[in-house]
Amino acid sequence: MKLNIAVLPGDGIGPEIVDQALKVCNAVCEKFDLEISYKTALVGACAIDATGNPYPDETHELCMNSDAVLFGAIGSPKYDNDPTAKVRPEQGLLAMRKKLGLYANIRPVNVFPSLLERSPLRADLVKDADFMCIRELTGGLYFGKPQGRSEDGNSAVDTCTYSREEIERILELAYTYAGQRRKKLTVVDKANVLETSRLWRQIAQEMAPQYPDIETEYMFVDNAAMRIIQWPASFDVMVTENMFGDILTDEASVITGSLGMLPSASVGLHTSVFEPIHGSYPQAAGKNIANPLATVLSAALMFEYAFNRMDVGDLIRKAVQASMDAGFVTEDIALPGQTVRSTSEVGDWLAAYIKGA
Ligand code: IPM
Ligand code: MG
Repeated sequence: MKLNIAVLPGDGIGPEIVDQALKVCNAVCEKFDLEISYKTALVGACAIDATGNPYPDETHELCMNSDAVLFGAIGSPKYDNDPTAKVRPEQGLLAMRKKLGLYANIRPVNVFPSLLERSPLRADLVKDADFMCIRELTGGLYFGKPQGRSEDGNSAVDTCTYSREEIERILELAYTYAGQRRKKLTVVDKANVLETSRLWRQIAQEMAPQYPDIETEYMFVDNAAMRIIQWPASFDVMVTENMFGDILTDEASVITGSLGMLPSASVGLHTSVFEPIHGSYPQAAGKNIANPLATVLSAALMFEYAFNRMDVGDLIRKAVQASMDAGFVTEDIALPGQTVRSTSEVGDWLAAYIKGA
């Protein structure tokens, strides 16, 4: 089997963390005798600088013709601090999601026991947390029209729309995952206020009887935000619309100890994209200090989801755990007294571990 991967490092720390994930990919390919080829393309602020377009056509072509896409991060302070900029790096990510039909973003929230001490929550609350957030990724407020500013610039509008088809397909996926896990699905919405949420809830209620072995629970998003802090172990699979999912998954990620640990898989109609959930961390860009583990773990998901190689994903995760057990970690997850390692040292350590495993 030959694996054709599109590599989109993006902005900020993207290139450094993706480099480490590629070291890991090369190591597992050597270990498991897999053939892999990479082609790199631009997305985000670097693509705007080079071409004027945050998601150039060549990048889209490459993604469409690849078995999987490994993505770093996008975003740049140059644009964050200029709310009037017409072209923004984030538009590249959104265009990629839309054009690749990536309607589901799967974010597994697992706790690494060695990081329990770094969690802002008490260890006894977080130690049994193990859930998956399935975020709708190509609808809702991020894409609804109209969107924009009034002529005088003093009022603005965003629109939240969802169709039955969009809701049904993401709920089907969520039920499938719940069926493979602990058989509980939490449908998160704001049905007490929003019409789109009432449509979500209605459709979920229609579908639930088709999955009699799965418990369906309905929860308002504000309550879900509270429950993630209060009782994270109560969740199994959570499904929600685009923006609620964006917010809740940042929250969910820090309870595991660091935002630098959470991978994600975006799946849908064409090829799948694997990316860390964190952003481009511009303050750390080029300093070789960022945690590469979320990207490395995204590569693990890539082998599992896109290439059906659970054994490869398992070995990558084992290597990540071993690096933490050995105390070979970047500053964000170092415990008091531990030597802080650089991004590239962690990547080298993981590759060496895998080759020697
Ligand atoms: C994420 C990010 C993106 C999002 C940004 C960079 C547009 O926060 O993947 O969660 O909001 O979807
Ligand atoms: Mg986000």
